[in-house]
Amino acid sequence: MKRQTDFTVVSLARLNERNILLKLTPADRRPMESILAGQFVEILIDREPGAFLRRPISVHYVDAASNELWLLVQIVGDGTRRLAALQTGEKVNLVYPLGKGFTMPDDDSRVRENYLLVGGGVGVAPLLYTGAVLARAGKKVTFLLGWRSAREIIQLDEFKKYGRVFVTTEDGTIVDGCRCEPGFVTAHSICQELPSFDAVKVCGPKPMMAAVANWVRGTKETVEPNFCEVSLENKMACGLGVCLCCVEDTTQGHRCVCSDGPVFDINDLKW
Ligand SMILES: Cc1cc2nc3c(=O)[nH]c(=O)nc-3n(C[C@H](O)[C@H](O)[C@H](O)COP(=O)(O)OP(=O)(O)OC[C@H]3O[C@@H](n4cnc5c(N)ncnc54)[C@H](O)[C@@H]3O)c2cc1C
Ligand code: FES
Repeated sequence: MKRQTDFTVVSLARLNERNILLKLTPADRRPMESILAGQFVEILIDREPGAFLRRPISVHYVDAASNELWLLVQIVGDGTRRLAALQTGEKVNLVYPLGKGFTMPDDDSRVRENYLLVGGGVGVAPLLYTGAVLARAGKKVTFLLGWRSAREIIQLDEFKKYGRVFVTTEDGTIVDGCRCEPGFVTAHSICQELPSFDAVKVCGPKPMMAAVANWVRGTKETVEPNFCEVSLENKMACGLGVCLCCVEDTTQGHRCVCSDGPVFDINDLKW
């Protein structure tokens, strides 16, 4: 169920120049609402006049044991800069959980065993919790994560807890221990194994998601429902399906990314 609630900052870690990892827990110490892989939160940016609207941020991980919600944030403007300045113990107000997440084994009409999760840049954020849920359900998880450069790579050790990890960097800089290859994600040699995967889940910049969608369409004769899902990051305001500012023109008509998505089957996309 959706709730608007205050969370307390448990910790804020600077992962690199542009990214932070924010760990939050409900201020009232009640157990969090149940959160599905691929859902997001709308976070109120307090004391920042340049950020009037709440900002949508994906659920990076849910640590049920410690009742913590993790957010992975890239600093791009006033709102995210304010988030990066939060102090331990400070309160932030969230509306959560929002949107429809990735299709997971319990909701899928087909039994799937072998999942490829493809992320680009901060778009890797929702894939950690997604991979964790799949791994706990006994599924085989492979992460293919793309960054512009090795110095931008974050959270690899966390991803490695739930599956195999492969990496690409656009500038060809290499990091050890994850079969790092130069180029875009679709150029990685693991992509030759597409026939062995039962599902592909993607989040990242739109050109990267389009490239993955086209690679899947070009490799498979027919793409069956739920085989390839992408998580869109259209600009949002209300996050609740009311303001219509996040609309995507799909084969099913105009859909609100915040409430009908953010996850869409590539068969429903016009790109
Ligand atoms: C469903 C969803 C999930 C998201 N999950 C994450 C996440 O896990 N981590 C994360 O760091 N970011 C995530 N984003 C993007 C994040 O919401 C924006 O980066 C943030 O709102 C920017 O706020 P700001 O005030 O710092 O920047 P602004 O001043 O609002 O904008 C700064 C720059 O960022 C660009 N920008 C703003 N919003 C977006 C967007 N939605 N997509 C692409 N560019 C944008 C603007 O065009 C501008 O160039 C997500 C967005 C959506 C819709
Ligand atoms: S953000 Fe308002 S309808 Fe989607």
